[in-house]
Amino acid sequence: MQCVPDGVPDGQVLVNIIRLTMKVLITGGTGTLGRELTIAVAKAGHLVRIGSRRRMAGAVDPQQEWAPIQLVDGSGLTNAVEGIEAVIHAATDVRKAKKVDVAGTRRLIEVCQAAGIKHLIYVSIVGIDEIPLGYYRCKLQAEQIVAQCGVPFSIVRATQFHTLIDQLLTNAARFPLVMPLPTDFQVQSVAPVEVAGRLVRALGEGPSGRVTEFGGPEVMTLGEAVEIWKEIKRKRKRVIHVPMPGKVATGFRTGKNIVRSGEFGCLRWAEWLRQQEAVNIATTI
Ligand SMILES: NC(=O)c1ccc[n+]([C@@H]2O[C@H](COP(=O)([O-])OP(=O)(O)OC[C@H]3O[C@@H](n4cnc5c(N)ncnc54)[C@H](OP(=O)(O)O)[C@@H]3O)[C@@H](O)[C@H]2O)c1
Repeated sequence: MQCVPDGVPDGQVLVNIIRLTMKVLITGGTGTLGRELTIAVAKAGHLVRIGSRRRMAGAVDPQQEWAPIQLVDGSGLTNAVEGIEAVIHAATDVRKAKKVDVAGTRRLIEVCQAAGIKHLIYVSIVGIDEIPLGYYRCKLQAEQIVAQCGVPFSIVRATQFHTLIDQLLTNAARFPLVMPLPTDFQVQSVAPVEVAGRLVRALGEGPSGRVTEFGGPEVMTLGEAVEIWKEIKRKRKRVIHVPMPGKVATGFRTGKNIVRSGEFGCLRWAEWLRQQEAVNIATTI
């Protein structure tokens, strides 16, 4: 697998700011991916407007605008797209996917059509057409709505983020004595910062009208991923394999969530975990 280093080199930032190009709305700009995305899009020289329900806590870049939006009822969307050229749609709600990801995407598109948006980039997930998870069905429906809406579009599908696998393992470690996991599931997790970099590239490339897949640099089983996680986090709990029945489990077991032909990030699971550990130590000193 040959990885593509993504992101904007710091030396390039000034050059990009001088040739400022687009005003970009990032829905879900306060989420895991969204936070990386707002930094990467601004670094690439574009003006950023973040769309979400709640403004991000803590220090906010005064150069960044924020538009309150609620995808469930469409409130705020018309104002959010005013003066915008491109939209990166990264808002999601796993628990309310029908309302937010499907109906909300339809609402967002209606205002994009009315505002003459030149490029809509939809963030999706690898394997959603082969793994029959309820959330994935909603993502697939949203992809179809985007592809048929008439607004020039690109769809970028990513594999599971390192953050998601880290959260999954942290949750499993909360069980007493052992960590129960479906250790035969395949994973090809990717760093959110690299997905953000790929999306910035999609912005620069313009509407492609197709689906691009972007995955992590290595394919592992969850069993292999947890051993690396335990070593770096110095956890000693024994992992026990939990056999999972059903089509969803078969999908993850047989690697339907893996990018076969597409593009790959460079930041490996172990390296990403070590970086996070270093940040955690630095913030607790
Ligand atoms: N996580 C993964 O492993 C993974 C892998 C591949 C692809 N993806 C895709 O990447 C995208 C971002 O995922 P993520 O994990 O970064 O998501 P996330 O951390 O859960 O963030 C979700 C974002 O959506 C906003 N949001 C939620 N409900 C909303 C509503 N009703 N109206 C307006 N905004 C709303 C949230 O802000 P407020 O709560 O303030 O509204 C937040 O900014 C999604 O499309 C997801 O499917 C994720």
